[in-house]
Amino acid sequence: MARLHPRNAGVPAVRLVYKRRLRTARTTGEVMLKVDHAGEHGAVSIYRAQRWVARWRAPSLVSEIDEFIEHEQRHEALFGAELELRGVRRCRSYHLCGVGGLVLGFFTGLLGQRAIALTTQAVESVVLRHLEHQLCVLKAADPAAAAVVAKIVSDEQEHHDRSASRLVQPRLLDRFLSPTVRMATEAVIRIGMGSTTV
Ligand SMILES: [Fe+2]
Ligand SMILES: [Fe+2]
Repeated sequence: MARLHPRNAGVPAVRLVYKRRLRTARTTGEVMLKVDHAGEHGAVSIYRAQRWVARWRAPSLVSEIDEFIEHEQRHEALFGAELELRGVRRCRSYHLCGVGGLVLGFFTGLLGQRAIALTTQAVESVVLRHLEHQLCVLKAADPAAAAVVAKIVSDEQEHHDRSASRLVQPRLLDRFLSPTVRMATEAVIRIGMGSTTV
């Protein structure tokens, strides 16, 4: 049995935990993983905030939002595990995504069922385009990162399609809410990609 350092005598129950030093992302694949990890955190926050308000504004959507939260948490964990495996620290925009997601989710939730579906459709359409681009780049550059990205595409497509199916008749709200949410989502991705120099 390993002997304790004299400094730790008398506190045998203490487990000495050595924290691994994390580094910044070095490759395009690592930057993409970081941005996706932060983005998934943002998605969890959007749906959580929408769920709080939907209990009152759109009760019929609560169970669907619960499913989406579960998916997004799994996505965040997948990217988090890959970053940890590589010893790469999370994105500087991680908390910004969380706060931004809460604000977006809360206000769109207040607007009701249509705004919730519009937000999901707008966010996921940007995300799907972004993932498609990543898969093209990563296929050759970083197959392990590409494999992680590929695991979430079908869930994101499902979120998009289920929400789009609730939006068959165009309404006035769509004209300003969809472009605003798309612009905000694209801005978050750009900020994340720009926050790390490869
Ligand atoms: Fe996701
Ligand atoms: Fe999603």
